[in-house]
Amino acid sequence: MIIEHENSEKININAFQNDLITWFKREQRDLPWRKDQDPYKVWVSEIMLQQTRVDTVIPYFNRFIEWFPTIDALADADEDKVLKAWEGLGYYSRVRNLQSAVKEVREKYNGEVPSTPEEIAELKGVGPYTAGAILSIAYGIPEPAVDGNVMRVLSRILSIWDDIAKPSSRKVFEKAVRALISHDDPSAFNQALMELGALICTPTSPSCLLCPVREHCQAFSEGVHEELPVKTKKTKTRNVQLAAAVLSNAEGKILIHKRPSSGLLANLWEFPSVELHHSLQNEREQIVNLFNQELQLEPSLEKIIGQIDHVFSHLVWNIMVYTGTLSEDFQESEEWRLVSFEQMEEYAFPVSYQKIYQMYLNSIEE
Ligand code: ADE
Repeated sequence: MIIEHENSEKININAFQNDLITWFKREQRDLPWRKDQDPYKVWVSEIMLQQTRVDTVIPYFNRFIEWFPTIDALADADEDKVLKAWEGLGYYSRVRNLQSAVKEVREKYNGEVPSTPEEIAELKGVGPYTAGAILSIAYGIPEPAVDGNVMRVLSRILSIWDDIAKPSSRKVFEKAVRALISHDDPSAFNQALMELGALICTPTSPSCLLCPVREHCQAFSEGVHEELPVKTKKTKTRNVQLAAAVLSNAEGKILIHKRPSSGLLANLWEFPSVELHHSLQNEREQIVNLFNQELQLEPSLEKIIGQIDHVFSHLVWNIMVYTGTLSEDFQESEEWRLVSFEQMEEYAFPVSYQKIYQMYLNSIEE
C-alpha cells in the first residue's frame, strides 16, 4: 500500500514498516522492561522514561519492580517508601499519580490495567503518550504513542514542518502514526520509532548513513534532515535565590522538614530553607529573620559551606548552604524531625538536598 501524506511525497507503508521492524528486532537494546509484556511494568517504565534517560531509568526500574512487583504491592505501599524509590528521578508528581492510578485500577478494574483508549486515558497521570505506549506494547493495539522523540523522527521521515514545541502539533503526528502503524505488530512498530530516535535519528547529527529507513526519509532526500524538527525555544526560566541550613542539635541530630503536600517536590524532605529577596539588609540577618518568621526557628548560623544550583524545567534554584545549631528545646512534629545519620537514609530528598547533605558530610570530615 502506498499513502500520500499531506506533507510528503509517496511513502510505501509496507516496505517502511518492514524495514523499521526488521531493524528493531535485530538491533533493539536489551532493556529490563522488554522482558515481558506485563502492562503494569510497561506502565511503570513509560512513566519513568517520560522525562528521564534510559541509562538512568534502568536501575530505578529494577529496584522499583523489586520493591513493588505488582499493582497490589504499589497500591498498598507507604507513600514515603514510594517517594524513596523515586528519589533522584525528579518530577515526583509522576509517581504520586502512578500510585493513585494503580489504586483506581485495583478498585475499578479488579487489578487489571484497562485495555481501551477511553478507560486507560482516564487514569491519573496517563496522557495520550502513555496510553498509546501501554495499549500498543502490552496489548498489541494499534494506537499512536507520540512523544518528542517520535515527533522528531516522523518530522524527518515525512518532512513535517509543524513546530513540535506546540501542544497542538501532537495531533498531526498522531494522525501520521495512525496511517503508518503496523497492525500486525503495533508494539514493535512504536518501540522501533522510539529506538530509532534514541540510536539513529538523534536530535543533533543523526546517523543517516546507518538508518534502516533512509530510503523512505523525505527529509534525507530533500537534504533538510538537519533542519528538522522545527522546535521553538521555550520561555526563559526564572531564578530563585534560596538559603538552606543544615542545623544540628547537641546530640548531633539534624533537622529535616517535610515539604507541603502540593506544589513542587511535594511531600519530599528538605533541610529548612527560605527564599531570599533583594534587600539592603545583610544576607545573614535576612536569613535569620526569615527563619524566625516563616519557619518559627531560631537557629544560630555558623558558616557557608557552599552553593548549589539546580535546574528545573521552569526555574533555577541558587541555594546558599549554611550550617548551624538548633536550640535545645526544639519540638519535633509531623513535618519537623530530628534525625541521626542512619535515619537520614529512610527519607526521600530532592537531588539538590542530597547534594547539600553530601556537602555537609564533607565539611564535617575536614
Ligand atoms: N522511551 C520511551 N519509551 C521507551 C521504551 N519503551 N523503550 C525505550 N525507550 C523509550
